[in-house]
Amino acid sequence: MKKLAVLVSGTGSNLQSIIDSTKSGILKGIAEVIVVISNNPSAYGLERAKKENIKAIALDYKNMDKQDYDDKMYKLIKESGADMICLAGYMKKVPDNIVKEYKSRILNIHPALLPKFGGKGMYGHFVHEAVVKAKETKSGPTVHYVDENYDTGSIILQKEVPVYETDSPEDVAARVLVQEHIIFPQAIKKVIENLK
Ligand code: GRF
Repeated sequence: MKKLAVLVSGTGSNLQSIIDSTKSGILKGIAEVIVVISNNPSAYGLERAKKENIKAIALDYKNMDKQDYDDKMYKLIKESGADMICLAGYMKKVPDNIVKEYKSRILNIHPALLPKFGGKGMYGHFVHEAVVKAKETKSGPTVHYVDENYDTGSIILQKEVPVYETDSPEDVAARVLVQEHIIFPQAIKKVIENLK
């Protein structure tokens, strides 16, 4: 059974999808979420963890020294005994010492077809606004390994969705999010099978 540490910054719908998959879906019996950590004490993802009796830890990024935050994050993840780290709507850069120590065991989900529409500053609605502005005819989520940069690690899974001329960025976001919830557990399973 692989132990997952999940990092969140907001709603946590991807976290919920991962938890649900470990309870009754494709991750049942092969993975469990053992800790949820957030940079944002009011992230609803922390509430979701508590409801599932999963350890939920908030590090108040805004009111902490950056180095102190990174050191605490490293310590928490090491102490958790996690085998893998999943960034589920996590908006901060992962400290390099964690990236090195957990190489090819850190996954991130990005709401676009990387390498397009990725990189620093390309997150949330900015991504979907850029997709609509570029008149793309498709978009979709990407799950990739995390390396020292933003959104540049090798791709594990992607899923295309259509983008219609009449779409608003919100329409695209909603269509992509549905597929995020499907491919994140699939990508975790694929990585676990490769770890064996
Ligand atoms: C998702 O769109 C994800 O792709 C992006 O941030 C959003 C997080 O959603 N990284 P949630 O917190 O998992 O609901």
